Amino acid sequence: MAALAIGLALLSVQLILIVALLVFILQAVIFLISGRLDVPYVPTRQKYLETIVSAVGAKPSDIVYELGCGDGRFLISAWKKEPAAKYVGIERNPLLVVLVRFRLFLAGNPENIVLRRGDFFKTDLSQATRVYAYLLPGVMEALLPKCERELKNALFVSNTFSFPRKTAMRSVQLSKQGRFTGERYLYTYEF
Ligand SMILES: C[S@@+](CC[C@H](N)C(=O)[O-])C[C@H]1O[C@@H](n2cnc3c(N)ncnc32)[C@H](O)[C@@H]1O
Repeated sequence: MAALAIGLALLSVQLILIVALLVFILQAVIFLISGRLDVPYVPTRQKYLETIVSAVGAKPSDIVYELGCGDGRFLISAWKKEPAAKYVGIERNPLLVVLVRFRLFLAGNPENIVLRRGDFFKTDLSQATRVYAYLLPGVMEALLPKCERELKNALFVSNTFSFPRKTAMRSVQLSKQGRFTGERYLYTYEF
């Protein structure tokens, strides 16, 4: 009996190690693939999500776009807060697209969350009334003319990186100067 219990315990440990290894490999592959894109996959930290979802402030009539939606955590959190709004996530990394589809499946495949596999630079943003993005300074600069052309009466909320030559209507501090990290802000722009 004791031998059986020990055998089962060892089997469980082996299974846990195998799952942990698979998750590690999947994350490494995701990072390698997305590292070659404009912006690497660095998900928004869970502790900032509530502040970010409130700053985006979706109402039932809104169409919320996320540019580079990563693993879908913002889309799903925002949808839980305002389930009547429409959501569009754009993501270029195929592995992340699979991950988001799985998370959407677990959430019951909400009809009002649309996931598009593609490049947000090649996506028409004119329907968006709210946009969330966590990108990089160079990408924000390249994105500004497109936003100025396509966004009308829309709010753009950017995690950490601001648009050059455009004044934010609001900036909220997400984190203070740390030992290894700088101050971090959430910028909201009107278009
Ligand atoms: C810093 S991560 C942020 C992910 C997610 N928005 C979040 O806050 O958790 C940037 C994401 O943008 C995606 N990405 C980068 N360039 C892209 C492009 N041109 N079109 C679509 N997605 C892109 C990356 O694959 C990555 O998932």
